[in-house]
Amino acid sequence: MKLYSDAELAHLLDHPLFRLVAQTADELELECYVVGGFVRDLFLERPSKDIDIVVTGRHTIGGNIDTKGNTRNSILLAQALKKKLGRHTTLSVFKNFGTAQLKAGNTEIELVGARKESYSHDSRKPIVEDGTIDDDQRRRDFTINAMAICLNSARFGTLVDPFDGIYDLEDKIIRTPLDPDITFSDDPLRMMRCVRFATQLSFQIDDKTFDALSRNRERIKIVSGERIIDELNKIIMADTPSRGIIDLHRCGLLGIIFPELTALEGVEVRNGRGHKDNFYHTLEVLDNVARAGGDLWLRWAALMHDIGKPRSKRWDPAGGWTFHNHNFLGEKMVAPIFRRMKLPMDERMKYVEKLVSLHMRPIAIADDEVTDSAVRRLLFEAGDDIDDLMTLCNADVTSKNEERRRQFHQNFELVKEKLVAIEEKDRIRNMKFAVDGDEIMQMFGLPPSREVGVLKNAMKEAILDGIIPNEHDACVEFLKKMAASLNN
Ligand code: CTP
Repeated sequence: MKLYSDAELAHLLDHPLFRLVAQTADELELECYVVGGFVRDLFLERPSKDIDIVVTGRHTIGGNIDTKGNTRNSILLAQALKKKLGRHTTLSVFKNFGTAQLKAGNTEIELVGARKESYSHDSRKPIVEDGTIDDDQRRRDFTINAMAICLNSARFGTLVDPFDGIYDLEDKIIRTPLDPDITFSDDPLRMMRCVRFATQLSFQIDDKTFDALSRNRERIKIVSGERIIDELNKIIMADTPSRGIIDLHRCGLLGIIFPELTALEGVEVRNGRGHKDNFYHTLEVLDNVARAGGDLWLRWAALMHDIGKPRSKRWDPAGGWTFHNHNFLGEKMVAPIFRRMKLPMDERMKYVEKLVSLHMRPIAIADDEVTDSAVRRLLFEAGDDIDDLMTLCNADVTSKNEERRRQFHQNFELVKEKLVAIEEKDRIRNMKFAVDGDEIMQMFGLPPSREVGVLKNAMKEAILDGIIPNEHDACVEFLKKMAASLNN
């Protein structure tokens, strides 16, 4: 981050657009400030897309608040700006919220009136009054998001920072401006935002603020799934997503929004034999995939790859703990979790299902003998997702045993080489079989039936095992022999 003096801020904001806002606000005798994420990102030297402007000051014509309690100053300023900016600018007014939005090229400016909301004892409905910039700042989520810079000409570039957001930026602290219980109960989504900002920025959550996350966690239930997943996805997309997931877990939010994940936590020991803690293992895999540049869906696949383990866990007196078929159980859990969490139910969900189901295959091949036929099958089933599957599989090796890791990576490289060689030779990815079901029915005069499936499957197995090439004549000949042997 960079500390700027007011003079430097004025220089940074010395842009025709801000100057125009300043001049127009002066003419209308309104005060205005750029606030929120834009100011935070200025100090963090990060690009910021949206510009939020708060408008205060008493407007004489008709007053600032209309009969419905909506602020008007922001709309008046936006309309005046629209006139000056001309027809290449679009203006949208949201009267009920007292906000206006200006779009000029790629720049989006949102203007809001400063409001003061107070709650009377006998009503939960807020009484809206004309507010000052300070009133506006105290209703914001975090001190680092509650800084304002004045745009009026006389004070252009003056930082207004009543909650010392600048020091929190410097110390890398996420803290609420007010008592966190108030800030979070005003909008419980802020609990997710709190963890999200801490994760994205690698900041610490202030202790009091963190305690309030735990106390208020149940309130997350009143927030829509869409808003929650939006924040969770931002956490997952951070450089080290495990930090955010652990924070969510420590304050108890994770158990509410994603109980299947917290169910992975813990180690059970019997007869001196324990299994690994699958929660922390999963987070390591997620971080590994993030480090490898995985996109959101590969990261979801990492988060869910072992999700079926608690349900498949068994104790075998001879072999110790087993998790047989956890990949298939996990695959079945993907759709219901995606549906509940408002994640897309389309090909992205299918992709996660596929990777969860196949995640052990490359390791199994590497552990065993790396045969052509095993690799061919893997290529066939993974199709175009083979590279992502290999990334996930590589990320899944979190053993602390140096020798085991070395052995694995050696075999893994062999699988990779074979994948390339076989793909070049046989073009298995997205392979279409030389003879399809319709032709099989015609060939043998069969109606759609189990027999057709049996023949088709036998042909597929023979191709994948390298017994016959995927060519029409060879397949027909194989099918005829197969049918004859079935008839006998
Ligand atoms: N804000 C808030 N409470 C919320 C959402 C937003 O107080 N639940 C305030 C914060 O001051 C925030 C500003 O509104 O800085 C703008 O919000 P938004 O555009 O959602 O976030 P940014 O801070 O701009 O950050 P990002 O773009 O990363 O979401």
